[in-house]
Amino acid sequence: MNFVMKNKLIFATNNQHKLREINEILSRDFDVVSLSDMNIREEIPETADTIEGNALQKARYIYSKTGLNCFADDTGLEVNALGGVPGVYSARYAGEAASFDDNMDKLLAALEGKNNRKACFRTAIALIYEKKEYLFEGRVDGTIMHEKTGEGGFGYDPVFLPDGFSENFAQMPAKIKNEISHRGRAVKKLIGFLNDHH
Ligand code: IMP
Repeated sequence: MNFVMKNKLIFATNNQHKLREINEILSRDFDVVSLSDMNIREEIPETADTIEGNALQKARYIYSKTGLNCFADDTGLEVNALGGVPGVYSARYAGEAASFDDNMDKLLAALEGKNNRKACFRTAIALIYEKKEYLFEGRVDGTIMHEKTGEGGFGYDPVFLPDGFSENFAQMPAKIKNEISHRGRAVKKLIGFLNDHH
């Protein structure tokens, strides 16, 4: 029997949606553990004004606490007609305690009467691996629909229609979303890097 050494990485998240998505994408050579798996319970600072800055800030924080290989991600939805808003503030667009529905309702209201509904999701992943820092970006372009539809996914999925598809992120199977999504693409770059370096 082959014994395969698993490569342990901390993913700086407690978001179960993201953990599930990332585990659906990652190869089994890696043992990805969450913050709660590591007993890290405090809020991780996320005060930068770019998604790259936030991802790096979170990864550095975890690295300073554990000294272990780790990565963190940050995502923003950038809407052209709104000058890139909500961007780095996507989670809090409609306020600190905003629900996904609150955020989508605010977005639909802000786009009312506008013809240009182009948008993109961008994910930045910051990796600290063997003491060095790396950044990976993933992006998916699409349009903001006029109303919410679909039951799957999370966040802005019910209003985001990726270019080239007739189903939005909340309607399509998770497997397809993971293949084409901002996070899926950023994770593929992360995995490509790790496969070459371990
Ligand atoms: P985070 O940096 O991954 O926590 O993402 C910030 C915010 O962007 C989330 O609270 C969601 O509102 C939104 N978001 C991130 N990823 C997705 C996605 O895959 N679909 C829809 N919304 C997302």
